[in-house]
Amino acid sequence: MKHSFIIPGTSNKPLAEKISKAANISVGKTLTGRFSNGEAQIRVEEEIYGNTFYIVQSLSMPVDEHIMELCLIADALKRGGAEKIVAVVPWFGYGVQDKVFLPGESLSSKVVIDFLQTVGIHSLITVDLHSDNIIGFFEIPVVHITAVPLFAEYISKTYGKHTLVVSPDFGGAKRSRRFAKEMGQEGTIGIIDKERSLTTGAVELRGINLDVKNKVVVIPDDFISTGSTMIAVIPLLKKAGVKKVIACISHPLLVKDAAEKIAKSDLDELVVTDTVLIDDKKRKLLSKKLHTLPIASLIAPFMKV
Ligand code: R5P
Repeated sequence: MKHSFIIPGTSNKPLAEKISKAANISVGKTLTGRFSNGEAQIRVEEEIYGNTFYIVQSLSMPVDEHIMELCLIADALKRGGAEKIVAVVPWFGYGVQDKVFLPGESLSSKVVIDFLQTVGIHSLITVDLHSDNIIGFFEIPVVHITAVPLFAEYISKTYGKHTLVVSPDFGGAKRSRRFAKEMGQEGTIGIIDKERSLTTGAVELRGINLDVKNKVVVIPDDFISTGSTMIAVIPLLKKAGVKKVIACISHPLLVKDAAEKIAKSDLDELVVTDTVLIDDKKRKLLSKKLHTLPIASLIAPFMKV
């Protein structure tokens, strides 16, 4: 008889457990360790031949280690004769580097995709890619899930259906418009004119296209990394007279001191999903503002027992 298993990488084991429950697929026994010289050591201790495997691995920090681990698990499954290998990569690291922005740079998204295909992954399930352009780099099927309906439902219930959606940049306008429509609105959104330096990463804001006075505003974004976008956006909106600012972020990377900065800021609520694990220290810092929406129920329907 054929079986399906979930194989968790080390990046987000709690999420793998939740997906296992939601999809009713058991977590396979796996060794994911390190040799003393730092190299990853992988062994899948289940019957591999003829079975289906879902490797759950977010490409969060340390990104390169998590990519390598994912590739080695896939290789172990390929060599063992797995019938189907599906990579469940809720946060697709390197997805931002989907172009050669400056001469001499690598096309990093494509490199990571080539790795995954070379090691025998048959399909990919992912959540809120930074840019869906990278789907074109894949030769294998990609299931691209969005957390927008999950966020829109929460915001409608908590703050009402008329909450104004504001995109923190032009790149996020499509996501924001979808968010507004999911809340039953016609699709009017605010857009902030943001520019990020390609060399230093510094963020500069030039204003917003709508009057936001006395409004409750929600800012959808695919990820929060250093927090510099949010930290620039919040005062701009507060100065324009908003009543409340809520951020809805699919992937809470929260690198460096982002959690601290957000905790101290005037942001009223930070709503995130659990695609990326937030450590206890950051969770504690953000305890008054953080609300986490579980993503497992959106992923599970794409997995077969
Ligand atoms: C930008 O295009 C992204 O969607 C995010 O808005 C942004 O890059 C988040 O990074 P940070 O938190 O470092 O500003």
